[in-house]
Amino acid sequence: MNRGLTLFVGILATFTLAWAGLVLIPYLQFGRVTDYVSEETGQTLPPPMSGLAQRGHEVYAAEGCVYCHSQQVRGESQGSDLARGWGVRRTVARDYIGERPHFLGTMRTGPDLSNIGRRQSSVEWHHKHLYRPQSVSPGSVMPPFRFLYSLRKIVGEPSADALKLDGLDAPPPGWEVVPTPDAKALVAYLLSLDRSYPLPEAPTE
Ligand code: HEC
Repeated sequence: MNRGLTLFVGILATFTLAWAGLVLIPYLQFGRVTDYVSEETGQTLPPPMSGLAQRGHEVYAAEGCVYCHSQQVRGESQGSDLARGWGVRRTVARDYIGERPHFLGTMRTGPDLSNIGRRQSSVEWHHKHLYRPQSVSPGSVMPPFRFLYSLRKIVGEPSADALKLDGLDAPPPGWEVVPTPDAKALVAYLLSLDRSYPLPEAPTE
């Protein structure tokens, strides 16, 4: 009995269908998505990222933030993301066209960050949180990213960037904790995360 041809066609069909489902159909659906120029305001949406935020995007990738944080907000019918205050609308493909790679994420050990720049816009809060998450979010299981900060001796005037730390985190007298360029870029990226602009396929009202 020779089933060679059947087997070959079967395997070919399996791979072709998988390729069509995972590559071809998504490409036809999203391959030509471009940014959108709002007729009302003339603004390009999603807004282009600043250079510093772009650098922060790389730090976000390098530090593995995506392992614990998603950046995708589901619609009302698909979950409670909107009710949790993670966004004002669901996110859509167009929200990610300027980002390579994008950080949709698969795990939510921490909250979704699609709109963190809107939810928490304080630079100081973000630095304190990255330095020791528990200092602003008691009981947090997020690891500290203290290596993004440097402890240095104050020479002359203290730095304007120095973190205002107290209690457990306070540096010894005469010393200060300052963000490294990576920490500053990362916070600029977090503040840039605001996907609350309306798109034709995802209106906000
Ligand atoms: C091991 C998992 C884990 C990793 C890795 C992680 N986080 Fe978190 N993150 C959490 C958890 C849990 C919370 C919720 C508690 C809190 O606010 O600290 C959180 C909260 C946050 C918040 C506040 C969200 C809100 O809605 O208030 C921000 C901002 C944040 N993380 C940014 C980052 C960034 C940036 C990185 C990478 C440098 C990172 N996280 C890495 C687990 C993680």
